[in-house]
Amino acid sequence: MSIIKLHDKYFKQYISEDKIQAVVKKMAQDIGREYQNETPIFIGILNGCFMYMADFIREYPGNCEVSFVKLASYTGTSSTGAVKQLVGVNQDLEGRIVVILEDIIDTGNTLEEIYKIFSDKKVKQLKIATLFFKPDVFKKELPIDHIGMSIPDKFIVGYGLDYDNLGRNFAAIYQLTTKPKMKNIVLFGPPGVGKGTQAAILKAKYNLVHISTGDIFRDHIKRQTELGKLAQSFMDYGNFVPDNVTIDMLETEIEKNPEAHGFIFDGFPRTPTQALALDKYLTEKGELLSGMVALEVPEETLVTRILERGKTSGRADDQDEAKIRHRFHEYHTKTEMLKDFYSEQHKYFGINGVGLVNDITARLSQVIDNL
Ligand code: IMP
Ligand code: MG
Repeated sequence: MSIIKLHDKYFKQYISEDKIQAVVKKMAQDIGREYQNETPIFIGILNGCFMYMADFIREYPGNCEVSFVKLASYTGTSSTGAVKQLVGVNQDLEGRIVVILEDIIDTGNTLEEIYKIFSDKKVKQLKIATLFFKPDVFKKELPIDHIGMSIPDKFIVGYGLDYDNLGRNFAAIYQLTTKPKMKNIVLFGPPGVGKGTQAAILKAKYNLVHISTGDIFRDHIKRQTELGKLAQSFMDYGNFVPDNVTIDMLETEIEKNPEAHGFIFDGFPRTPTQALALDKYLTEKGELLSGMVALEVPEETLVTRILERGKTSGRADDQDEAKIRHRFHEYHTKTEMLKDFYSEQHKYFGINGVGLVNDITARLSQVIDNL
């Protein structure tokens, strides 16, 4: 579940693919039962109906014919009131049962036009089956025979529905939402790459809250809390603390900062499960992850750096080369693939992490300024 951006607007997931499929299947079965011994013609109203139509027809249990009409009334996110007929009816419908498949009925202007178009076609029956219906805006006294789902008066996209021609290709339905306000950054890279150092500088520069899951766990260990004892049993051996424990703790830390302008996540997410949990959590808050900025440094340089740090950091996992190697192994097998996860969302930014602290900060800032 995540937030998508189409043109200038943001949309959050609202109805899952599974839910839509279940609703469409039920509509096809209900209507199929009504016309058991007939061959209705299903007429889809393009463009929005194409996914609904395809799934509906696949689920339809009896014989049927299929046709299309193309109408247009919307520009942007509001109805123009004037419905244009771009492709009309081009077959004889006399004596036939016609079922109109509409993706969504909003003001009812389009529906009114549909009733007009079919009024002189001498059909035996004209029925309307819409997947979505917005009862709060519907202003007409026209019958609608089948409604998949009634939804509030909020603009939606996906599953064939568009915002200025974009968004039709999503399998789920997304609802218009406010522009996210936070800058949320994942600072990424293998152990010892300098995430902590850079996070301390960046949080001051961008007025963000720095959440290092490693630091929080170490603090709990120092105070020997229940969480600390649990975490220690994993961390001392260079192993990951289990996902559910880490995710719960991270959410608690976020909740402690309701006024934050955004967060720098350092050491989180470490696994795809954690990345998905973060996406879901931020989406529910109407926010999104701005990007992952990754520091890239050759591994041998890092092992030397960490052993050097181990002399003063007091961290058990910094002092033993075998444990350090194990942490790299954990990183390569469980974490590194997050690069692909965020690359696919166009949110991965790799930065050369070798050099002076200030120079690296400047490289990071170039990316963060544009997020
Ligand atoms: P109506 O004529 O106002 O009932 O609107 C019907 C048409 O407007 C639909 O076929 C869609 O093309 C479009 N429409 C209405 N509401 C939405 C929406 O929330 N998202 C995308 N398109 C919509
Ligand atoms: Mg439509």
